[in-house]
Amino acid sequence: MNQVVRYKDNQLHMESVALDSVAEAIGTPFYCYSKATIEQQIAACKDAFSRLNATIHYAVKANSNLTILRMMAKAGLGADVVSVGELERVLVAGIPAEKVIFSGVGKRQDELLAALEAGIGQFNLESLPELEALRALCQRTGKVAAVSVRINPDVDGSTHRHITTGVKGSKFGVPMEQLDQILGIITESDSLQLRGLAVHIGSQIVTPEPYRKVCERLCDWITDLRSRGFPIEHLDLGGGFGIDYGDGHFLDFETVASVMYEHLQKMDHLNIAIEPGRSLVGEAGVLVSEVIYRKEAEPLPFLILDAGMNDLMRPALYQAAHPMQPLRDGDQAQEVVNVVGPICESTDFFHKAITLPKIEQGERVALLKAGAYGAVMASIYNSRDIIPEVMVDGDQHAMIRRRITSKALLALELSE
Ligand code: LLP
Repeated sequence: MNQVVRYKDNQLHMESVALDSVAEAIGTPFYCYSKATIEQQIAACKDAFSRLNATIHYAVKANSNLTILRMMAKAGLGADVVSVGELERVLVAGIPAEKVIFSGVGKRQDELLAALEAGIGQFNLESLPELEALRALCQRTGKVAAVSVRINPDVDGSTHRHITTGVKGSKFGVPMEQLDQILGIITESDSLQLRGLAVHIGSQIVTPEPYRKVCERLCDWITDLRSRGFPIEHLDLGGGFGIDYGDGHFLDFETVASVMYEHLQKMDHLNIAIEPGRSLVGEAGVLVSEVIYRKEAEPLPFLILDAGMNDLMRPALYQAAHPMQPLRDGDQAQEVVNVVGPICESTDFFHKAITLPKIEQGERVALLKAGAYGAVMASIYNSRDIIPEVMVDGDQHAMIRRRITSKALLALELSE
C-alpha cells in the first residue's frame, strides 16, 4: 500500500496537496481523505474477492460522507446500513436499493418500513421478535422482504473486546439453538423470502484464523440445513479486515479472500457477500490538528492539541493509537511526549510517551489512519464544533462536509 502522506519540500503532502495549505485555508482541526487511496482500496478489494464472485457491500458506518458513498456507488459497490439515516444517504449517493443490506440488532419498525418501501435487497435478521415485526409489516403493506439470518457462530475474532461480536453472550446474531425455529417461520411465510445466513465476527481482525474457523463451521451448517430442506443460497461474511495502525498487524484482502475461497469453493450455488468498512477507507484519512499549547511537565511534556476525543473517539474508547506526524519536517531532535486533547476528561489522550520530533506550540500535526470510525463517531461534547471533512484529489482539495458550528447547534435550542 502506498504511503497516504509523505514529505515533499519538508511539508507533509496528501497526494499533491500540502496539508498545511488546507489548514491555512479552513483552520484546524479537520479530517482529510485521499481520493486515490480510497480508489486503490476499492480496486484491491474487488480484485481479491472476484474469485469468490462476491458482492461487496460497503459498511457505511465506517465513514458515511456522501462524497465517499458516491465513490462506492460509482465503483458498483452495494452498502451495508444500520439505520434509516444511513439508508437515506446511500440512496442519495446512487447505490441501488437492491444492493443494500440492512444490518443491526435493534432496527425500529419505522426503519424496517422505510427499508421495505425502498425495496432493499436484504434484511439481516438478528432475533425472533425482529422477524415477527418485519413479517407483520410485510403483511400490512403487501410487500415481500428478502431475509438472511445473522447467526452468532461463537468464533472469537481475537480483537479488542469492545469490537468483537461473534462470541457467545454477545448481543449480536441469533443463537444457533434458535436457528431452526427462525428458518422454519421464514420458509412458511409468504411475506418473507429466505436468502441465507449472515455473520460478522468483529472488527480490526488481523489474522485469517477466525475467518477460517467461521467458514469451516458455516460449510457444515449450510450442508446440514440444505439436507433438511432449507434453501440457503446466500452467505454474508460481514467485514472486519484489520488495517495497519502502525504495529505491522493487518489483514489484507488477498489473504482473507484466499482463506474464504479455500473453504467455500466446494459449496454449490452459494452467493457470497462481504461488508468491509474500515479496510476501504481507514488508511485514506488523516486528522489535522494544531498544537494549542506545549505544556512542560514532569515526567513528560504535554502537547495539547485543538482536536479532542470528541473529534476522534477511538483512542479514548479502544486505547487505539493513531500514528502521528508533524506537518513540517525539520531536523529537530526527537523527544518523548504525551499528546492530549483539550477536553475535560483524562481519557482525552492521543498518545502516552510517544517519541516524536520536537514539536513547538502553534505547529500542526496529522493523526494518520483516521478515515474509518473517525468523523462518523464525533460528538459535540463540551459544546464543540463538528469539524469539517476535506477530500484531496491530485493537486486539488474540496470541502466535502462543512463545519457544524456550536452556534448552529445552539440555534436549534434557541428556536424551541
Ligand atoms: N458488518 C457489520 C454487521 C458490522 O457490525 C460492521 C462493523 C461491519 C460490517 C464493518 O466492519 P469493518 O470492516 O469496518 O471492521 N468503532 C469501531 C469499529 C466498530 C465496528 C462495528 N461494526 C472502531 O473504531 O474500531
